[in-house]
Amino acid sequence: MISRRRFIQAGLTLMALPKQIVLAGGRLFKKRFQVPVLETGKRIGKDVYFDLNIQSGQSAILPNQLTPTLGINQSFLGVTLRASKGDRVHIKVKNSLDETTTLHWHGMKLPAKADGGPHQPIQPSGTWLSEFDIIQDAATLWYHSHQIHQTGRQVYQGLAGLFIVDDESVRNLNLPMEYGVDDIPVIIQDKDFKKNGAFAYIRSMPDRMMGKKGQTVLVNGVINPVLKAKKSLLRLRLLNGSNARTYHLSFDDHRAFYIIGSDGGLLEHSVKVNSLKLAPAERVEILLSVADGKMPTLKHNSSQVQPSMMSRMMNRDKDLIIFQIDALSVQKSSRSIPDRLTTHQLIPMSVVSNERLMTLQMHMGPMMMFGGDIFSINGKTMDMNRIDEVVKAGSVEIWTIENHSMMAHPFHIHNVQFKIISRSGGVQGHELGYKDVVLVHSDEQVKVLIKFPEFSDAKIPYMYHCHILEHEDRGMMGQFVVV
Ligand code: C2O
Ligand code: CU
Ligand code: CU
Repeated sequence: MISRRRFIQAGLTLMALPKQIVLAGGRLFKKRFQVPVLETGKRIGKDVYFDLNIQSGQSAILPNQLTPTLGINQSFLGVTLRASKGDRVHIKVKNSLDETTTLHWHGMKLPAKADGGPHQPIQPSGTWLSEFDIIQDAATLWYHSHQIHQTGRQVYQGLAGLFIVDDESVRNLNLPMEYGVDDIPVIIQDKDFKKNGAFAYIRSMPDRMMGKKGQTVLVNGVINPVLKAKKSLLRLRLLNGSNARTYHLSFDDHRAFYIIGSDGGLLEHSVKVNSLKLAPAERVEILLSVADGKMPTLKHNSSQVQPSMMSRMMNRDKDLIIFQIDALSVQKSSRSIPDRLTTHQLIPMSVVSNERLMTLQMHMGPMMMFGGDIFSINGKTMDMNRIDEVVKAGSVEIWTIENHSMMAHPFHIHNVQFKIISRSGGVQGHELGYKDVVLVHSDEQVKVLIKFPEFSDAKIPYMYHCHILEHEDRGMMGQFVVV
């Protein structure tokens, strides 16, 4: 299925070329910012029903070629799901692909059987019903394929979308909140393309070892688009939906902006910064004033990357343009930048009932040539038939994540929003908030405080893993049950 509207739009943009030109992967052209379709489901009181279809299609991403893509209710990427704290969602997922897949609700606190991880596969032509109560505060969550050994490729082809959770208190904050107008989703992904326009997934040893990084950045499926801003104050919900790249984001004019949210929702206070680091799977909400009517460009600065031993060995990082904001004709916003946003419940250390150590390792040497078990946690590679950890429902634990490898790994835990309580570089910016992913640098030790929700299921596990999808797919993942 060709998305006809996008195809025509691409053609029009090409004809308008001489006006403004953006360099993207060596090509000259400029495309309009696309806001993912919003899906709020069918509501009957507190019950909200979503109908999702995982499908394949063709998308006009490059100027004059079509790219085979995967998507949810559309040909590329997923529609944005939106529901509120207190709702009970019923999500029917149909798999129209000719391969097995799953949909995982990343960042959601929910029963294990509704999680959409490797233990809830959806066969071709099959359907899966995921039902759960939304018990957490407003946040920018996301969803993506979690098919065992295939997550990297399926997400790369497009199986990812946003899941926005709302609540009463965030509605009362006078933040920009009109979806697609002053509240803008920004899914950042980097891709490579083959000559025929198809995505080029893993092609080399560095792709396999360090994760797949592309040289072209897409925002909501469009290469380096331009957002025509309508309001002078914008709220951007940034998702690093990339397989492996960590972004160091700032605007080309170094303007300041305010971080208001992290993976798990609002920070207690807004934090003024000029740049931020966003690892794979992390989200951040920022407020940005464009009242000056200029055209700032969001960029990835490779010079900010702490060169690890690995990246020095296989240096492939360079500066990248993410997208541009055209604020030439904005209207004055009536929204504000609050200092105080919310209060996080303080968990006293005295209630910590258990501590666990997670050791991340990459085994270098001859094994890697033969595709052996390179990636491990606590010396073990992922085994769907092995439960690695047993956690008590409702308990509070400290997990220490140690990285004994030569590169950074974004460590993710299902079903929880944790707090980072210590790390070598100190805890700053969006890391002050609730997190479900934390980037653990080479030789670093990070401690996180986790309160597990009350859901229990002795049989069906949740996952914890590195969110560099090529590492996850090759075994840097473990399983825990909550009882
Ligand atoms: Cu975003 Cu286990 O996943
Ligand atoms: Cu997850
Ligand atoms: Cu990793």
